[in-house]
This record gives sequence, C-alpha cells and structure tokens, in this order.
Amino acid sequence: MHISQLIQKAIEFDSGDARRIQHFLKVYQFAALIGTLEKIPAAQQEALESAAILHDIGIHAAEEKYGSSAGNYQEIEGPAIAHQILEEFSCSPQFIDRVCFLIGHHHTYNQVDGVDYQILIEADFLVNAYEDNLTPSAIKTAAARLFKTKNGTLLLKTIYNI
Ligand SMILES: [Fe+2]
Repeated sequence: MHISQLIQKAIEFDSGDARRIQHFLKVYQFAALIGTLEKIPAAQQEALESAAILHDIGIHAAEEKYGSSAGNYQEIEGPAIAHQILEEFSCSPQFIDRVCFLIGHHHTYNQVDGVDYQILIEADFLVNAYEDNLTPSAIKTAAARLFKTKNGTLLLKTIYNI
C-alpha cells in the first residue's frame, strides 16, 4: 500500500478542514521520524504511519453524532471509517485490524501494547503541545508520564526546550 495515496485519500476525506489536514500531516511526519530513529520493524512502521495519517479521521463523525470532538468519541467513530478507507487498498486484514485498533486507542494512555501505539501517542502529543499552546510545566509532566521512547523524548525536550 502506498502511503502517499493514503495521505491523498485522508486529505480528500477532510476536504475544507485545513487545520485538521495540517494536524495529521505533522503527526504522520513525527511518527515516521520516531519510528525510523527507533529502528522499529517494518510491519510496525507501516501500521504506525497509516494510523498516524488516519488517527483523527473520526472527528467529523464525532462532532455530527455527539456534538463533540472529545477523544473518546473520536475513538468510537474513527476505526469504522478507517476500515472503509483501508479496504480500498490491498492491505491484509491483520494490518487493517492493527491500524483500526491504534486509531481506536490513541487517546487511551494505559493500554499501550506495542511500540507503534507508544509512538503514535508521542507524535500526537508533540503536535498538540504546539497547537494547544501547552505550558512548559504541562509539557514536562507529559515528558515524564507519557513519553517512553528515547527519540520521542529527545524531540519533545529539544523542540520545547524543557
Ligand atoms: Fe491528533
């Protein structure tokens, strides 16, 4: 499956929502970077990159259904939409399941069961810290509680100078 085609699909899906398109492109880039620096296995890197592109794909459905883009609603709505998108590519069912699982858990910090999951959380936080203008103390707390990979932690500390 070609990552650029998946990016194109996700941009089409979020058409008109430039802010969210910018968001997932940044999360994708950080996820790909951390995964590469951490030298994770190719299959996990592929699941991670696809999940990063599609991680917030449930936001519009969540807003329509629940009037809220809160993390738990996105987690409910995202996987089915991601499933539909990924079915258009020739991905294995196991691959689609893993990507959908990651999308359905990317706001759940206490069930991390793999390095792909861990890196997705770190990449999303690296972008959200900037977009949400988090204070240095909130970033420091996250560095201690949320970040586990060497290179994700290094990026957070370097970018935010904490
Ligand atoms: Fe996100």
